[in-house]
Amino acid sequence: MINVNDIKDYSIIKGDCFEVIKDIPDKSIDLILCDPPYNLASYSTGNMKFDWRHEINNDVAEWDEIPFEPKMLVDEYKRILKPNGNIFIFCSYNLLGKFHEAFDSEFDTFQFMVWHKTNPVPNIRKSSFLNSCELIVCMWNKGHIWNFTKQSEMHNFIEAPICMGNERLKNPKHPTQKPVKVLKHIIKIASNENSVVFDGFMGVGSTGAAAMELNRKFIGVEMNEEYFNAAKRRLDSTVNNSSCYSNEGEIV
Ligand SMILES: C[S@@+](CC[C@H](N)C(=O)[O-])C[C@H]1O[C@@H](n2cnc3c(N)ncnc32)[C@H](O)[C@@H]1O
Repeated sequence: MINVNDIKDYSIIKGDCFEVIKDIPDKSIDLILCDPPYNLASYSTGNMKFDWRHEINNDVAEWDEIPFEPKMLVDEYKRILKPNGNIFIFCSYNLLGKFHEAFDSEFDTFQFMVWHKTNPVPNIRKSSFLNSCELIVCMWNKGHIWNFTKQSEMHNFIEAPICMGNERLKNPKHPTQKPVKVLKHIIKIASNENSVVFDGFMGVGSTGAAAMELNRKFIGVEMNEEYFNAAKRRLDSTVNNSSCYSNEGEIV
């Protein structure tokens, strides 16, 4: 079992989150904030190629080839979440109905947020909308932590550019690195300082970086070694005192 109370800043684990989550104690997590696979493989037509410019990345990431269903998360998420906890999950348009089907009846409230990307990938062929919005489904029970600020700041809508500039890791480059601004907005609303935030699909550790900046504790899992190592370097640079476990549970 992971001793959540012993985590000073963060604990990250390299492995399959469906296995690792079994080691997280019941009712120990304040906020689950994650960005699971999108199940978009069957829609991809590969990278877009042009004579006059570099190709645009439209390919399917390796992890998205593995079938993923929202219902695979429900039982364990319910088990590890504290009664006053919150869940926020990035959700591709094709999975919205499945998330609702799997989670709505299990929680008091099911809502969604929209992240509007101010700099989406252009549609060079001008043949459809730009993909400028991303959905984030969220759920909780009565009595949940909720740091409501002004009415004007509590729309279920946030505007922010996709991750770029210094924030965007170059080596490795993660195709779906999320901006810390969006993650911090959610963490501030849905948890308090010293709360424990869990991300089982942490990629290069963006949720962890946001949690560290806001004085929360973080548990992250990533199965890809390159992304895991990048997340470790990133989190190590934000705090000195860290613990890092491999999927066997030993410190790496
Ligand atoms: C959409 S990306 C998340 C990116 C992340 N939000 C970031 O900002 O870096 C999903 C990540 O989950 C990882 N992943 C997919 N299935 C997993 C599993 N079963 N266990 C652990 N990690 C997994 C993938 O390798 C990928 O890095």
